[in-house]
Formats: sequence, structure tokens, C-alpha cells
Amino acid sequence: MTLLDGQVALVTGAGGGIGRGVALRFAEEGAAVAVHCRTAVEAARDVAARIRERGGRATVLRADLTDEDACRRLVEEAADWGGGRGGREGRGGQGGQGGQGGRGGRLTALVNNAGVQPLRELPGMTATEWRTVVDTNLTSVFACTQAAARIMRAQGGGTVTHIASIEAGAPAPAHAHYSASKAAVVMHARSAALEYGPWGVRVNTVSPGLIDREGLAGAWPEGVRRWREAAPTGRLGRPEDVGDACVFLASRLASWVTGHDLVVDGGMTARPSW
Ligand SMILES: NC(=O)c1ccc[n+]([C@@H]2O[C@H](COP(=O)([O-])OP(=O)(O)OC[C@H]3O[C@@H](n4cnc5c(N)ncnc54)[C@H](OP(=O)(O)O)[C@@H]3O)[C@@H](O)[C@H]2O)c1
Repeated sequence: MTLLDGQVALVTGAGGGIGRGVALRFAEEGAAVAVHCRTAVEAARDVAARIRERGGRATVLRADLTDEDACRRLVEEAADWGGGRGGREGRGGQGGQGGQGGRGGRLTALVNNAGVQPLRELPGMTATEWRTVVDTNLTSVFACTQAAARIMRAQGGGTVTHIASIEAGAPAPAHAHYSASKAAVVMHARSAALEYGPWGVRVNTVSPGLIDREGLAGAWPEGVRRWREAAPTGRLGRPEDVGDACVFLASRLASWVTGHDLVVDGGMTARPSW
């Protein structure tokens, strides 16, 4: 018996580095997975294909999560698929048909992973640049969670996990909009844990440190070197490290864990900065 048998999960941004790792780990643990993407359709299809090759169930759904209505449609479409009426590759948030999620759909786990992290120093930052990060990283989390919680309440409960960041507590240069959005995501989860707890919905965050990706060492050798030297565990994180934490929070092993921020950073934030 695997940890997520019988679950239906929606992972946003699952064509990207961490989202891909989360989606594959959920499938390994027995969940059917709705693999969300915005532009990376081929990457998302590849994730879904890998899940199916291994005997799992997956679909690909598209949405631009800066649009609140698209967030709601995406969640409903995932639930429709999870309830067994879907199964084809969906069009959530792209003029798709909307859903019947509140009326018999099935969605037991949402992972709010999609996000952007552009670099921009505060003196030159425009309000539009600020809003893009906040809309993508925070308002989408609010909207997707609200839609998912309604569906989960109707089916007796579920879990929501937001991917925050260690930058929620320790800002990096040129990342004020990003750090602020991630700090707010952590507080959203704690607030949502209070309000959705009576509905049987647990809401937590996972805060990763630096996660490895193809090309990172070449693009940012200095940062990767500094991380390796400073991290007590001596390595960068892997998408599966984040996936493991998300699996735990969505599983029965965490049935009394809600409103928690699970830091997954190889011990980096345990190191004194002085
Ligand atoms: N990498 C790290 O070291 C690290 C550390 C801490 C936290 N995080 C967080 O982990 C999450 C995933 O990061 P990652 O490194 O895996 O980044 P990534 O590979 O760039 O993936 C980001 C994903 O977000 C999606 N996305 C961006 N804007 C969107 C929008 N408007 N609507 C819908 N989807 C949108 C992208 O979809 P498309 O590509 O399909 O457009 C992509 O799949 C982010 O929330 C990030 O802040 C990352």
C-alpha cells in the first residue's frame, strides 16, 4: 500500500522543475495527478506520459493563474477529471467548459507550486512588476485554494500545500516582491488552516532552499558554490526532496498537521549568519 492510494491531486506548474518532481512523487505514491501548465505544454505532457507508462493516471490541464476565474475553472476541471467524467487532456482556464467540481467531482490534494521569481531591485521596480509577482505567486494561491476547499468540503476533506520558500523569512537582493509574496503565502496557509480546518481541509506550506535544475551550475556557478559550502548537508536540493515533503503533508501520516511551514533546505537556515 502506497501513501496516496485513491487520492486525486492537482499540481500547478507541474511542467517545471519542482512541480515535475512533486507530480511524479505523487503518482509513485498512488495518486491520480492532474498536471497543470501554462506555456510548457510539451513538458507537462511528458510528465503525464511518464506517469501513465508506470501504470498511473494523469491528465494535462492548462491555465494562466494570474486570472482568478481561470484558477477556479482549473480546479473544477481537475475535480471533474478526478471524479471520472474527464480523462481527456483538458483546457482549464483556456476557454474550457468550466466544471461541476462542487457536484460530485473528486479532488483530495492541491499543490500550489506555480510561481515566478524575477530579479529586480526595489529602486527601479514598477508597480506592474510587483503586481505580476504577487498575482502569480499569491493571488493564484488564494483563488485555487478557495475553489479546492469548497470541493474538498463537499467530499469530506482534503489537503492543500503551497510551495513557499526560505526567502519568506530571509530575503535575497532584488527579490523583495518575491520574498513578500512567499511570506504572504506562508501566512495565507496559516489563516486557511484556521478557517478550512472545520471543513476537514488541512493547509500547509513547504519552504524549499536552493533546488537544483538543469543548467543552474553553469548559469550561477558562484551561487551554487556558496550554497554547497554553506549547507550543512553539502548539496543542493532535488525536486524529489520537495516532492517527498508534499507527499508527507498530503498523506495520513500528517493527519494532525495543519498551518505548518515545513522547511526543506538541507539545514541552511539552521546555520547562524554571524
Ligand atoms: N527552484 C528553487 O530553488 C526554488 C526554491 C524555493 C521555492 N521555489 C518555488 O517553487 C516553485 C516552482 O519553482 P521552479 O524552480 O520549479 O520554477 P519553474 O521551473 O520556473 O516552474 C515554475 C512553474 O510556474 C508556472 N507558472 C509561472 N507563471 C504562471 C502563470 N501565470 N500561470 C500559471 N502557471 C505559471 C510555469 O508554467 P509554464 O512553464 O507552463 O508557463 C512553471 O511550470 C515556485 O513557486 C518557486 O517560487 C523554487
